[in-house]
Amino acid sequence: MDNNYAATEKYWNGVFKNKAEFHPRGKLSPPELEQALQWLCRDASTVLDFGCGHGHALARCFDYGVEHITGLDVSQEAIELARRVLKKHGYQSRSTLICGGLDALKAIKETPVDAVILFNVLDNLLPRDAEEVLAVTGKMVSSGGKMLIKLNPYFEPGVLASEEGFTRVNCESGAELYREDSGLYLWNMSDAEVKKLVNPHWVTVNCLEIELKGGLTNRIYFLEKTS
Ligand SMILES: C[S@@+](CC[C@H](N)C(=O)[O-])C[C@H]1O[C@@H](n2cnc3c(N)ncnc32)[C@H](O)[C@@H]1O
Repeated sequence: MDNNYAATEKYWNGVFKNKAEFHPRGKLSPPELEQALQWLCRDASTVLDFGCGHGHALARCFDYGVEHITGLDVSQEAIELARRVLKKHGYQSRSTLICGGLDALKAIKETPVDAVILFNVLDNLLPRDAEEVLAVTGKMVSSGGKMLIKLNPYFEPGVLASEEGFTRVNCESGAELYREDSGLYLWNMSDAEVKKLVNPHWVTVNCLEIELKGGLTNRIYFLEKTS
């Protein structure tokens, strides 16, 4: 999988190289994000975040009672920033940070985990890899475990095709997949596709639309492990 993400890695390394440190106790905005994490962390002692970036959302889980966090990201710069911040604030021994993608996820032996975060990553993967991330995390989490998925908004079919900077990529599954000029993938996924994708590992118990800074909306799905 990872060979397909060279441009993704380059793009996010550029972003995280210059990103300021965050404080692990600093709340995320909007408040619905904090509420979602509180729900995720209830009764959880371990949380895994695939595509964790610099790890701010993941680090917030400590405030909600989590003992140990594991974050993976393909960007070395993101992981280094996360490591630096967590060490500075005394969380080093309670965190595992791994630079890598799906192969690194599959290599994790410390299972089961209680909860999983997938924030703004699933729709930036090739659809077959997104399916595999869900299958692998589905096996890592025990019954009753939880997952939060955050995604870009859904655009009506064809809207993105007429936007500058988006090139449609042929996909066997028929998924509406684009490559942005930055090299990032964007899978324009409808709610029905999300539900199909998470099946049979996960059941959606809630879905929220949140407004981010600048007016952009995101969708958050609250999922529970079925069996
Ligand atoms: C939009 S950022 C979101 C970061 C973080 N989850 C958050 O919400 O702040 C997407 C992140 O996913 C990571 N990513 C993208 N493709 C990946 C892959 N194939 N394997 C692991 N991480 C990946 C990027 O490096 C980037 O840090």
